[in-house]
Amino acid sequence: MTAETHTEKKLAILISGSGTNLQAFIDRMQTNSLGAEIAVVISNRPEVKGLQRAADAGIATETIDHTGFASRELFDEQLIECINRYQCDAVVLAGFMRILTPQFVNHFHGRLFNIHPSLLPKYPGLHTHQRAIDNRDKEAGATVHFVVPELDAGPAIIQASVPIEPGDNAELLAQRVLQKEHIIYPQAVQWFCEDRLQLTNDNVLLDNRALPKTGFLLAE
Ligand code: GRF
Repeated sequence: MTAETHTEKKLAILISGSGTNLQAFIDRMQTNSLGAEIAVVISNRPEVKGLQRAADAGIATETIDHTGFASRELFDEQLIECINRYQCDAVVLAGFMRILTPQFVNHFHGRLFNIHPSLLPKYPGLHTHQRAIDNRDKEAGATVHFVVPELDAGPAIIQASVPIEPGDNAELLAQRVLQKEHIIYPQAVQWFCEDRLQLTNDNVLLDNRALPKTGFLLAE
C-alpha cells in the first residue's frame, strides 16, 4: 500500500431520457479516464433508456417520479436526500428536464453542472437548434456551465461549436452538436474531479486562471 490517499470523487448523474451524454460519462469511467465514480444515476421518469444504460454498466439507479410529488420543493428535497445518501461530491444534469428550485441549486453550489445545446448566452431555453437555423446563424454548439437559479444562465466552463450546413434541420444539427457534447461534458467534469476547476463568486477558474465568459473553447 502507498501513503497516497485515494480521493476519487463520486458523481450523481440526473437524466430524463435517452442518456447519450450519460453514456459518454460511462465510457470514460470505464477507461479510467474520468477521474470519478458514477455513484448513482437518477431519473425523474421511469423506464427511460438512460436507466438501462446505467444498469448495463453496473451503476446504481434510482427513479424519483416527479408526478408523485405535490410540489417542486418536495420533489427537490427527495432528490437532495437521494444524492446525499450516495455521498456524491458533484451533480451532473444530463438531459434532466426539470427546473430545479433555488433551494436545490444553492445546496450544490459550485458542484452542479449542466450542458445546454447552444452557444450560451445565445438561446437559453428550448428549441435551440431550430432557433439558430431560423436566425440563419453560421454556427451552433453546446455549453457546459455551472448551474445557478436562473435558467441556463450559470458561468460557462467550456463551449464547442459546429457549422450549420445548408439544408440542415433541427434534428441533423442536434446530432452534430451531440457529438461535441459527448466530448466537452465529461472533460469539464473531469477537470472538477481533478481539483482543477473552481467557481469563485462569478468566475470560473481552471488551474487558478479565470476563463473567458464563454468558457474554454474546444478546438476543432
Ligand atoms: C442534450 O442535447 C443536452 O444538451 C440537453 O438535453 C439533451 C440530452 O440528450 N440538455 P441525452 O439524453 O444525453 O442523449
